[in-house]
Amino acid sequence: MGLFNTKNKAAGKPNGRVEGIAKVTGAGKYAAEYKLDNMCHAVFVGSSIAAGTIKSIHLDHAKQVEGVLDIITHLNRPAVAGFATEAKLKDTRFGLPLFHTDKVYFSNQPIAMVIAETLEDASYAASLVEVTYEASPATVDFKTAYAAVPLKPQGRERGSMDAWANAPAVIDQEYHMAAEVHSPMEMHATIAHWTGDDKLVLYDKTQGVVNVQRTIAKIFEIPQENIEVFSEFVGGGFGSGLRVWTNGVGAIMAAKQVKRPVKLMLTRPQMFSLTGYRPAAWQRVKIGADKDGRFLGILHQGKNGTSMFEQFQEGITAITRMVYNFDNLKAEQAIVPLNLGTPTWMRGPGDCTGAFAVESAIDELSYQLNMDPVALRLKNFAITHDPENKKPYSSNFIDECITKGAEMIGWKQRKQQPGAITEGDWKIGYGVAVGMWGAGRGNASAGITMEKDGTMTVKTAMTDIGTGTGTSMQNMAHTFTGMPKEKIKIELGHSTLPTAGSQGGSTGMSSMSGAVAAVCDVLKQQLAGYAAAINPVYKDAKPADILLSATGISYKTAKNEFVSLADIWQKNNLANIEVKASSGPGAERQQYAFCCSTAHFIKVRVHTKTGKVKIEKAVCVADGGTIVSEKPAANQISGAIVGGIGMALMEEIHADHRLGNLVGNDFAGYHFAVNADAPIIEVAFINKPDPYVNPSGAKGLGEVGIIGCAPAIANAIYNATGKRLRDLPITPDKILV
Ligand code: MOS
Repeated sequence: MGLFNTKNKAAGKPNGRVEGIAKVTGAGKYAAEYKLDNMCHAVFVGSSIAAGTIKSIHLDHAKQVEGVLDIITHLNRPAVAGFATEAKLKDTRFGLPLFHTDKVYFSNQPIAMVIAETLEDASYAASLVEVTYEASPATVDFKTAYAAVPLKPQGRERGSMDAWANAPAVIDQEYHMAAEVHSPMEMHATIAHWTGDDKLVLYDKTQGVVNVQRTIAKIFEIPQENIEVFSEFVGGGFGSGLRVWTNGVGAIMAAKQVKRPVKLMLTRPQMFSLTGYRPAAWQRVKIGADKDGRFLGILHQGKNGTSMFEQFQEGITAITRMVYNFDNLKAEQAIVPLNLGTPTWMRGPGDCTGAFAVESAIDELSYQLNMDPVALRLKNFAITHDPENKKPYSSNFIDECITKGAEMIGWKQRKQQPGAITEGDWKIGYGVAVGMWGAGRGNASAGITMEKDGTMTVKTAMTDIGTGTGTSMQNMAHTFTGMPKEKIKIELGHSTLPTAGSQGGSTGMSSMSGAVAAVCDVLKQQLAGYAAAINPVYKDAKPADILLSATGISYKTAKNEFVSLADIWQKNNLANIEVKASSGPGAERQQYAFCCSTAHFIKVRVHTKTGKVKIEKAVCVADGGTIVSEKPAANQISGAIVGGIGMALMEEIHADHRLGNLVGNDFAGYHFAVNADAPIIEVAFINKPDPYVNPSGAKGLGEVGIIGCAPAIANAIYNATGKRLRDLPITPDKILV
């Protein structure tokens, strides 16, 4: 613990990340990097078929490998209390109970686990486990399966379809998106250590230590407070760390079985099947407008893939209800069971998928109307109210985002006529699309330990998955108290620290800001109480009247009525001051709707002979309320755009239709955008505080940076080439057809 801040000279500087030095030097440990005494290793054996039944498992050869301690299969697995009944299993929300069935639902499903002294012993032995199956036909191809699944109404229908049956301008198109995987740098891993019969310590790659505690408590039926979870450094998540997966449960089962600490790290190929993915989707968008471009109605239909054993539905049509004002809306959705692992939330879940279709359709409409797509959007934005629930938006600057973005990309250079700008074999085009995400806030707690020398350690159980949570906590504690940043240290990502939710859904910053504000108030109030014993002016002081400095406190302005920390400590005979506070959303949630938004602008070059797409420039203007830490905030957005480039141009999971296994499930076969694919990305923020969301005025940025990016690229490719590509990823072959 406490490696955040150590030897980090940058911490005091405005843009330094508190965890930066520890992360880049490797001093900060990811889950798999802890070494426990007497620790051994577990490795999964995955099924080699995608559907069917296990007939036999032969372990003789595997057991002969030196160092093998035990091998767990469905035939000998230890009892897991939470998997004992259907009702209990449902309550755990774990999905397929590990080693509790002879049925196979997807390729690479863990069917055995070898526990051995070393990773090498375990991996070799795993390769010697022999399994026979009775295979059944597997369905892995979304594109051939989706059509047969009927749609169901999704959400409330607004107005009617008849009302715009004769709309002067109509686009009615279908859109496809391939499944893609999160691919965080840090692979999913768990080290499990039973320190008593019902006491467990976990080093786990997760976006939420409290969620891990809660889930594991249910699965193993032990008290939640008996489970200690460390996730101090996290190498990216993108949603893949929002659930407990098989690596967690497997490591815990193995540790119980051999009565030793066990490490279980998934391999990169296993990550493709066992830690979720953004599911493949089909959509139909029908949009009608009057001749001036005012939207009359939208029909949005969506289907996404899921596994055979869990029903994961993406909120594909949700974004259609948020961004634009129009009277008639019908939405329908369905899920398509496939012999694949279960999908999960992936950055901008649902909205990212939905925005691809809707923002593409709006672009298509703009050409039909011969209107500038920026002007068309500006005409239709629902700025003042959430069009669904009619609540006023607490703040919504999507119009400012698009206006500013147009300037930054040089939108005036764009030609409305597709294919009008060429340079040798290259065609050049511009595209725009917008993104929106509900600005949420959850309950969170924070604590501060203050020492006599003024050092303040601000603590929370919340993880920092690379988003800059720790840095932002430091910045906020500085803003709320006045204490210089170099005196503010951060501890986070450990379940014994003040409780907080997972870092997900772009709520981390928003939730944490309330907790940090609250705990800073408690600290100031307490210090004022102590100072009142020295200077009576502090007797009735409110937190807002108190200013901290490295050496003492003052009243209303710096140095006024100064009382030193040394005197406070001495007079009150203090050791350290420990304070804690919680905070969460309140009545404002009933009164207002909350959103964050982005406008994406893309300039592309498309090579006419090879179909290569080169993003020349990407601009994103984001409204995330107050920007608490500018550099990490801009990193969030530029990282999201790199994700958007991958989604638009490269990322797709391929399954072998005959055998049902994934192909190219490693970083040689699965392509995402790297530095060479990314342009210089220009990010700008509106940076106006949201008046109601929380005390800092900060909304979220994690999701909204990717939402709308892929359609902006597809729209730019159309502007460059005149080819409307409605099937992601847009690989060169599709451009050349
Ligand atoms: Mo994000 S999909 O909430 O990690």
